[in-house]
Order: sequence, then C-alpha cells, then structure tokens
Amino acid sequence: MAIAICPGSFDPATNGHLDIIQRSAQVFDEVIVAVGHNPGKKHLFTVEERITLLKQVIKEAHLHNVRVDHFSGLQVEFARAHKAQVIVKGLRAISDFEYEFQMALTNKHLAPEIETVFMMTANEYSFLSSSMVKEIVLFGGDPEGLVPPAVLGPLRKKTKAGVEDE
Ligand code: PNS
Repeated sequence: MAIAICPGSFDPATNGHLDIIQRSAQVFDEVIVAVGHNPGKKHLFTVEERITLLKQVIKEAHLHNVRVDHFSGLQVEFARAHKAQVIVKGLRAISDFEYEFQMALTNKHLAPEIETVFMMTANEYSFLSSSMVKEIVLFGGDPEGLVPPAVLGPLRKKTKAGVEDE
C-alpha cells in the first residue's frame, strides 16, 4: 500500500493544489493532505477552516482515496505516524526549487526511509500561489478561476470582511 502525504499551508487551497492532489491520487493508493501551520506567513483562514474547505474540495472532486488531516510538528513525523513512504510536493518554475530542494534534503536527513516526490505544476497554474490569491483578496479583487468552487464563496466573504481585520 503506497501512502503519500501532501503537506502545505493551503491558506487557501488553490486550483494548483487541487491539480497536484488529483494527480497524486492517481499514483498512490492513499493520499493524506496534511495541513500545517507556517508561523512565517500571515494567515487568512484558521487551520480548522482550511481543513473544512479542503474536505469540501476533495468531496467535490470525488477523490475517494484522499483524506485531510493536520499536523503541528515535523512533516516527516506526521508521515511516519501515518505509515506514509512519500511526501509529494508541487514545483512551480525555478522559484520553488531552492527552498524545496533544501527541505527535501533536510527531510531525507531526518527520515532516510521517506522519499520526496516532486510533481511539476500544470502549465496553467504555474503562476499561482496562495500568497497571490491572498493579495488579490486583500486588494478587493475577485479570485474566481484560481481556487476550487468550495473555496470561492468563503474567500469572497473574506474580501467583504476585510482581510486586514483578520
Ligand atoms: O505551503 P507551505 O507554507 O510551504 O507549507 C508550510 C508547512 C507548514 C507545510 C511546512 O513549513 C512544514 O511542514 N513545516 C513543519 C516543519 C517541517 O517539517 N519542516 C520541514 C523540514 S525542516
């Protein structure tokens, strides 16, 4: 049984994330989307909200071998605890490479039995990031087409509420 985790902040989940999760679900028997907290980033949705949205996204995409969980320690410890052999990461252009390369080698040092597998992002999402989506919302723009339908409504409400107040 090949189990993979897809770790990330998912704040919010984008169409780029969904693409990587869908493709992972075709390769691995089971995929666990692991929501982590990145203290270096200003958050838009709470971890609980992100989990709820991701569960809805997974349901609407009919991904029956994907589940959503959260973690607060090291991603390799989460992988070990769930008997996952693989960490899947999406790679966009060159900008992601240095950070992801460093993280993959650090994870290899910490847990040599776990492999990091990179999937190249789909061309149409190569520009897309949660940070850009957050910026669109912050400045009152509409993120339609960039996030799954389940995320769009709650995101638009954030626009109305004003992200500065979060
Ligand atoms: O989507 P992001 O913001 O790049 O993901 C952030 C997160 C929280 C998933 C990532 O930073 C993480 O896994 N942090 C936990 C600590 C860890 O395992 N770091 C990697 C090796 S030092």
